[in-house]
Amino acid sequence: METQKLTFTRTTCNEIVLGTDIFKEVAARVLRLRAARHCAVLTNETVAKWYLQPLLAELRTRGIKATEIVLPDGEKHKSLDSLSAILDQLCADGLDRNCPLIALGGGVICDLGGFAASVFKRGLPLVLMPTSLLAMVDASIGGKNAINLPGGKNLAGTFYQPVLTAIDVSVLRTLPLSQLAYGLVEAIKHGAISDSAYFRFIHKSVDSIKAKHMSLLQRLIRRSIHIKKSFVAEDELDQGIRAHLNLGHTFGHALEAAGNYIRLHHGEAVGLGMLMALKAARTIGKLEEDYTEHLRHILTEFGLPTKIPVELDKKELLNTLSQDKKKLHDGYRFILPQSLGKTFVHKVAQDKIEDFFLNACDI
Ligand code: NAD
Ligand code: GLY
Repeated sequence: METQKLTFTRTTCNEIVLGTDIFKEVAARVLRLRAARHCAVLTNETVAKWYLQPLLAELRTRGIKATEIVLPDGEKHKSLDSLSAILDQLCADGLDRNCPLIALGGGVICDLGGFAASVFKRGLPLVLMPTSLLAMVDASIGGKNAINLPGGKNLAGTFYQPVLTAIDVSVLRTLPLSQLAYGLVEAIKHGAISDSAYFRFIHKSVDSIKAKHMSLLQRLIRRSIHIKKSFVAEDELDQGIRAHLNLGHTFGHALEAAGNYIRLHHGEAVGLGMLMALKAARTIGKLEEDYTEHLRHILTEFGLPTKIPVELDKKELLNTLSQDKKKLHDGYRFILPQSLGKTFVHKVAQDKIEDFFLNACDI
């Protein structure tokens, strides 16, 4: 037998621009991408109402033709049917590999757009224009995309980096406060895993965040991107350190799934999941700095739950945990807090999970 190696050196760079009222600048940058004359803009009906025409106008000014793809709003449309409809329209309008796909919307649209761009003709230049806080601080950074399958959330997807992530903070003016809160949970998580000063900054800025002070939101988004970037740059394909971004998520996914994704929003579930992680770390004697009350305070200020809804049966939660796609063959891996800004990986064997999990539910 003989062997040969084929080594690849493909490097990609995601340029991230952040500012207020930057649609004009985004159109200029899109034009510079492979001298684009034709692009696709993917969005949903809610976001289209506010931002589609302003973006199309800037693209037209630069002589760029746009194929408009407007989907209904909602997580249930992050589906194979939507992906198929997007690909059909890209095909019908004759987009080629030099034509950028611009995803203008929250995490649902960024995930769908990322997936479609990664597979259509084996890859279109992807531009993400996140419009929810969650998409700005999380979904538009790191190159993960996905659709949901009947078997579960985010079960099909690719790693595919955007060439440009363009964040116009001013669009947060129209984002409902509840959605702002869901995004904030991921920002709090960034502080909890790697930057205690950032966590404290969020804690003391609750009123300004609620009032949507644009310069403060921009500072917050900048800091979150910086943190997420540092994990992703080191571990793009999620084989190691990137797992720390899952603080609160393994618990949170069980809560979301047990409530059929209706009872609790992802942001609410991750907030509860972080409280559960604090409780678990405290119980095993590994929590050196307990910031439970600070976290509880921020969640409460934003109207997010701090107790597991009574109707979610604990045994049912345990059952959904066992179906988690990140479960290992010999047990479970949790990211737990050690101190503010520091987390660690904790493995729990199959025969210990019930006690571990039920104790963590008592927050
Ligand atoms: P979403 O995309 O459904 O947006 C939330 C709501 O806000 C929607 O109704 C949307 O139409 C509306 N909206 C968005 N921007 C608006 C604006 N500026 N003004 C008014 N309304 C606006 O949900 P989301 O919370 O943004 O994202 C959740 C999705 O992101 C999930 O599918 C999740 O799996 C995914 N996600 C992906 C990653 C990743 O790394 N790829 C990370 C986190 C979450
Ligand atoms: N949202 C977690 C990650 O991007 O890895």
